[in-house]
Amino acid sequence: MCGIVGYVGNRRAAPILLEGLKRLEYRGYDSAGVAVLNDGISIVRKKGRVSALKEAEGMGGTIGIGHTRWATHGAPSEQNAHPHLYGRFAVVHNGIIENYLALKEECLHRGETFSSETDSEVIAHLLNYSYRGDVLAALRETTARLKGSFALAVLCRDEPDRLFLAREKSPLVVGRGEDGTYAASDVPAIAEKCDKIYSLSDGELAVLDRKEIKFFDRVGTIEKRELAIDRSADIPQLCGFSHYMRKEMEEIPAAIANSLIDFATDFRFSAFCEVLCQTKYMDIVACGTAYHSGIAAKHAVEKLARVPVSVHIASEYRYGDPIVKPATLVLAVSQSGETADTLAAAELAKSRGAYVAAVTNAPYSSLTRIADFVLETGAGREIAVAATKSFNAQLAILYSIAVASARAKGKDVLFDSLRPLPALAEQVVSKIGDAEALSADLVRARSVYFIGRGADYCAALEGSLKLKEISYLPSEGYPAGELKHGTLALIERGTPVVAVVTQRATAEKTMNAVSEVCARGASVLLVSSFPELARRKEIAHFIPIPKCEECFSPILSVIPLQALAYFTSLARGNDPDKPRNLAKSVTVE
Ligand code: AGP
Repeated sequence: MCGIVGYVGNRRAAPILLEGLKRLEYRGYDSAGVAVLNDGISIVRKKGRVSALKEAEGMGGTIGIGHTRWATHGAPSEQNAHPHLYGRFAVVHNGIIENYLALKEECLHRGETFSSETDSEVIAHLLNYSYRGDVLAALRETTARLKGSFALAVLCRDEPDRLFLAREKSPLVVGRGEDGTYAASDVPAIAEKCDKIYSLSDGELAVLDRKEIKFFDRVGTIEKRELAIDRSADIPQLCGFSHYMRKEMEEIPAAIANSLIDFATDFRFSAFCEVLCQTKYMDIVACGTAYHSGIAAKHAVEKLARVPVSVHIASEYRYGDPIVKPATLVLAVSQSGETADTLAAAELAKSRGAYVAAVTNAPYSSLTRIADFVLETGAGREIAVAATKSFNAQLAILYSIAVASARAKGKDVLFDSLRPLPALAEQVVSKIGDAEALSADLVRARSVYFIGRGADYCAALEGSLKLKEISYLPSEGYPAGELKHGTLALIERGTPVVAVVTQRATAEKTMNAVSEVCARGASVLLVSSFPELARRKEIAHFIPIPKCEECFSPILSVIPLQALAYFTSLARGNDPDKPRNLAKSVTVE
């Protein structure tokens, strides 16, 4: 949430900052701003997207900071947009300062005035108050007083050649390039410019000048290890597609192929396999789409390995005093590896004695530093806020774990059952366009329901989340058998119901629910691997899904649901890549 960029070098800062902000816009797009130091600090801030900052393009000065905001404290407005300027200091902040009210009170008591409603502005005030000619000392003193999470980039009027940074629980990377040094919340903003990248850890600070980057902790200087970057993967490109979401759905088969792991033959994971042998229980902690991956994994692990799995929403787990039994393996699933609740849940599980394995798409993320094992999904960078290929990639790894876990328990389950999935996904992806016509039914709906049982219920949950986040239609994913206990009351003439049926044992049971909603006037779209069901009179529309091992079917059945959400979003005039109120990386609580 919120994107930060910083630059100091030999070139004009403003164009570099604006370009970096465009690449970080998936982190928030309520408002944006830049500050440049050139005989004093000049600031341009606007409500709305980075494109609103046109007048900043001409700013002079070779040192500056920029920000794209996802509002937490204070409405999206020009006044609340960053950078915040007070006295000698301009500050951009990603995170939440939990004790800002007490700190603000103290500043007000000194007679200082505030120009925004944000928690962030207090940081500029504290810096100005602590400053006695040494910015690093003022930054140390200020950050020691902040509670919560922050990534900060700071300009000081008295330091025309140095940029100051600090990190606590919000991501921050820095890099060195030919023309200067760079800072950002995430690699894509600076990948093109830098040959060396470093990632700050909690409690660390950095000072950038035109050539050098120096790192500090709370007491002194530190050395940091540089990280390799894959420039082609780190610089997002639309490659002729109209939206990243559309492009990322096309990339699903490759994401699955790159994420399947044959743990029996891949010796990089032998230590992880030893832990799987000892594992008696699995807990999965995650948020949003990643939580739905966890539900899908539960079905596969319990079916194939007979290891009990509990799936937890990370924000509940972290404050829930969870019982972590001996021999528990915790899988923390997160595309970004930066989701604040998932990080806290993983830390808590570890402190209670569990092994923690990170299933993540971000190799240098904070989650990888907490985890005992890192299982990297091979989805490639995902830019659209609505997760698509990363979900399929998470399932590929989690199903691989299910197979490995079954083998660790002496069961005759073969990795071969996973091998066909990329080719089968290719078949489904080739029909994505068919969902465009079907979205016409949804565009004017008051609400939409997704139903299924077992593994199909998981696909229903994800299909519903996708639809609500980018089409803004009220929607629910529901277990088919539970409808009649309340939700059936919401079905009326024309209500769209999407039913997912891929499990032989429960197919007819879900079809009973289909009959029940049809009897109340619903219009049913059936997504199924049983083509014979298409002939039933209740079915208004049918999307066929190829057959695979049944407990893996969400990896295929979710694809048309993702497509349905995408086309409905477009038909409703929305931008599917940047849904309102949301951001890709949820680094605050
Ligand atoms: C998915 O479409 C959502 N944007 C969201 O639910 C997301 O999956 C969730 O915020 C978790 O993110 P993570 O995987 O990066 O932890």
